[in-house]
Amino acid sequence: MDEKDQSIGYYSPGLAGIPVTKSAISSVDGKVGHLEYRGINIEQLAEQSTFEETSFLLLYGRLPSQQELMEAHEKLRHHRRIKFRIRDMMKCFPESAHPMDSLQTTVAAMGMFYPLPHGQLTAEQIRSVCLNLMSKLPTLVAAHSRMRKGDDPIPPRDDLSHAANFLYMLNGDEPTPLMERIMDVALIVHAEHTLNASTFSTIVTASTLADPYTCISAAIGSLSGPLHGGANEDVLRMLDEIGDVNRAESYLNEKLAKKEKIAGLGHRIYKTKDPRAVLLQKLYVQLTQEMGEDPTYEIASRIEELSRSTLGAKGICPNVDFYSGIVYRKLGIPTDLFTPIFAMARVSGWLAHWKEQLGSSRIYRPTQIYVGDKGLTYIPMKER
Ligand code: COA
Repeated sequence: MDEKDQSIGYYSPGLAGIPVTKSAISSVDGKVGHLEYRGINIEQLAEQSTFEETSFLLLYGRLPSQQELMEAHEKLRHHRRIKFRIRDMMKCFPESAHPMDSLQTTVAAMGMFYPLPHGQLTAEQIRSVCLNLMSKLPTLVAAHSRMRKGDDPIPPRDDLSHAANFLYMLNGDEPTPLMERIMDVALIVHAEHTLNASTFSTIVTASTLADPYTCISAAIGSLSGPLHGGANEDVLRMLDEIGDVNRAESYLNEKLAKKEKIAGLGHRIYKTKDPRAVLLQKLYVQLTQEMGEDPTYEIASRIEELSRSTLGAKGICPNVDFYSGIVYRKLGIPTDLFTPIFAMARVSGWLAHWKEQLGSSRIYRPTQIYVGDKGLTYIPMKER
């Protein structure tokens, strides 16, 4: 904490290290690189669970029974289709629109198509909002991706899992079981991560009792920035710019000499390699067995190796974004969809926090340290 003023308490830029709420959804130990959802280690979930089951865990605080999971699957599949008017609205977006802007705008607009009463929501209304958003985000991302190229959206398929259906709606081909599993694990590891900027945006917005579509739209806006979700796009741009593994060292040295940041390295919480980066790196290796090697990965692992002695020593290590882009590219996903996919996964975590926030009636209202002028006299225009 940087400063203490008796009248206003501690001042910590970016609220670093300041607890602002209590939550039972996830926990991180940044020193050892350990992440748990509802007390269950992320590695176990990545190995044994599915995105649908993990989302149930995040939203309802426990693993579902077989019957509950079957029902959740069915309901998620049932809500995948989007209204024609939403699709027509999306057709009017500029072709150059970033998919995150399209997603944020469309989710905000969903609040008008699925209006909710002001005030307390029933358990059924809460359940249906969660299903609606989780089910429809992949459809919105895939539909926008196709429509901007002049193609018709591919309707969702009810016989496919969340992950497989997304890849199908995007490419028109059913993915292989390995591609489906890898997409599924990528969604699991991105589903929740304590009180990051976008989750904080969700709960700040939720604390005003704004409708959930507005809360999730606010979260998508926060996620779009390059210091948060947008970093995985930057990683691939950086790797493409380096272009050759032999250029990795000079690139890194030049950047560090200019005190510029390397995309995909460093994290506010993790001072060791992000456990999600470890999992995504393993997924990439599995993918290469089916789809062959990729020079981009070689450059990334060289950057990781070279940065270990300099940045690594300061606790600046690969974060979740460092390897996610490489995995997505291998799955044939365009670079500017990486962050929307992050949103498709994180919506479960955001909604879990939104639900949790509904139990608190306290609006967020931090304070500031005023550093401007005081008591000035207004100067009439003709005297300025
Ligand atoms: N490359 C080079 N140096 C980095 C760095 C990076 N990616 N990340 C942090 N540093 C350096 C800072 O310049 C600073 O150096 P200094 O002590 O000489 O001033 C030091 O490490 C501490 O960094 P700081 O910005 O205080 O860390 P933070 O906890 O506030 O920031 C991030 C965390 C994520 C914002 C930051 O690491 C970053 O911008 N990373 C790149 C973007 C990224 O990958 N974001 C995705 C996060 S999941």
